[in-house]
Amino acid sequence: MSAEWTPKSWRTKPVVQMPVYPDAAKLEAAENRLRNYPPLVFAGEARKLKTKLARVSQGEAFLLQGGDCAESFAEFHPNNIRDTFRVLLQMAVVLTFGAAMPVVKVGRMAGQFAKPRSEDTETINGVTLPSYRGDMVNGQDFTAEQRTPDPERLVQAYNQSAATLNLLRAFAQGGFADLHKVQRWNLGFVEDSAQGERYRDMSSRIQEALDFMGACGMTSENTQAMRETSFFTSHEALLLNYEEVMTRVDSLTGLWYDTSAHLLWIGERTRQLDGAHIEFLKGVGNPVGCKIGPSIEPDELIRLIDALSPENEAGRLTLITRMGPDNVKRVLPGLIRAVKREGRNVVWSCDPMHANTVKSSTGYKTRHFDQILAEVLAFFDVHKAEGTHAGGVHFEMTGKDVTECVGGGQAIREADLSARYDTFCDPRLNATQALELAFLLAEQLKQERQLVRARELAAGA
Ligand code: PEP
Ligand code: CO
Repeated sequence: MSAEWTPKSWRTKPVVQMPVYPDAAKLEAAENRLRNYPPLVFAGEARKLKTKLARVSQGEAFLLQGGDCAESFAEFHPNNIRDTFRVLLQMAVVLTFGAAMPVVKVGRMAGQFAKPRSEDTETINGVTLPSYRGDMVNGQDFTAEQRTPDPERLVQAYNQSAATLNLLRAFAQGGFADLHKVQRWNLGFVEDSAQGERYRDMSSRIQEALDFMGACGMTSENTQAMRETSFFTSHEALLLNYEEVMTRVDSLTGLWYDTSAHLLWIGERTRQLDGAHIEFLKGVGNPVGCKIGPSIEPDELIRLIDALSPENEAGRLTLITRMGPDNVKRVLPGLIRAVKREGRNVVWSCDPMHANTVKSSTGYKTRHFDQILAEVLAFFDVHKAEGTHAGGVHFEMTGKDVTECVGGGQAIREADLSARYDTFCDPRLNATQALELAFLLAEQLKQERQLVRARELAAGA
């Protein structure tokens, strides 16, 4: 951390993607209120996540990060939170069981409300208004009133994040996530699918293992790891004024932590080396992420790592590639080699969503399941070839039975998209598609482990 860093030093740097608020006094009043609100997460929890991510960077665990593209005020409902949490749990158990590897669970939840946009304004029938930037900034309806950035929305997003996090903590620690309930995590509409059946088979095998362990004396009552799980939150650190007021000094270490979430990431559009977003995340003690698209050069990546993780602490930095399958094959090997050559500790994670967005013939923004899978497989293949750990995945997904991405076992067609297209932003995997990917990923992880074992044996021989 440079000597002059403060939570507001980002204000001296060039900034992009931040809304322009017409009423500065109202904005300052909202910021000042938030400054006195309680932290949403504790520094110790962020450090715990960093320790877990350190294990991922060392090839001993896998990161599963997922949730809505954008949370919304209108969709705020306990069932939505429960269902997304439940699918993430299901995916995690599939991966843990299949790959025999701990899975670090991180939601794009409880704070993922602000969106970068390719255009600052939108014009319809000759009327130009500010673009919609997520419920934390403005409203989606195309009226001047809705589209004007409103600082009160920062407070509403904080409140919704607090309530969401409260429920997530209860689910993770209050009995819902008890492994003995593994069979009950199947969602109604998933149950009838091929994935549901596969999941049922696997959960009865887990149940058998649990029965055996119970007979040996290990039960939920005496084993915390069976009774509860760790679940962490994350969002894109886009609205730096919000992140600034949520940043507090940790009384134990005297370091600054952004208490709005456990992990914060920088998006592909805001990762300028001399820009405000990098400056802000430099100074917080949380684990941080950075999205990287295909245009990044190996040298630039090393400078980015220098900026965000100067101490090279394992678990501090997760690089989230979002390139499209062909670019992964073309660009990723060079990036991995540069990182290895420079001896940097990073977690490599794959976001197979953001470079695979297309417009369907029916006009909907969609993503093809096969393309998403192709990007994940390319990511695993490159890591296998380079001898590095494919550390994690980053999905836009929901626990609801939406029709936003085409393909998968349910064979959703473009003509089906209109049936349940609910997203406020990008198209998400539905619960069945997400589970299907988890099964395919578990296979990949299993293969990676076999390869590592074979290499270890060969080295020892
Ligand atoms: C996102 O994660 O929603 C996003 C906008 O990603 P990216 O910055 O990779 O485009
Ligand atoms: Co998105």
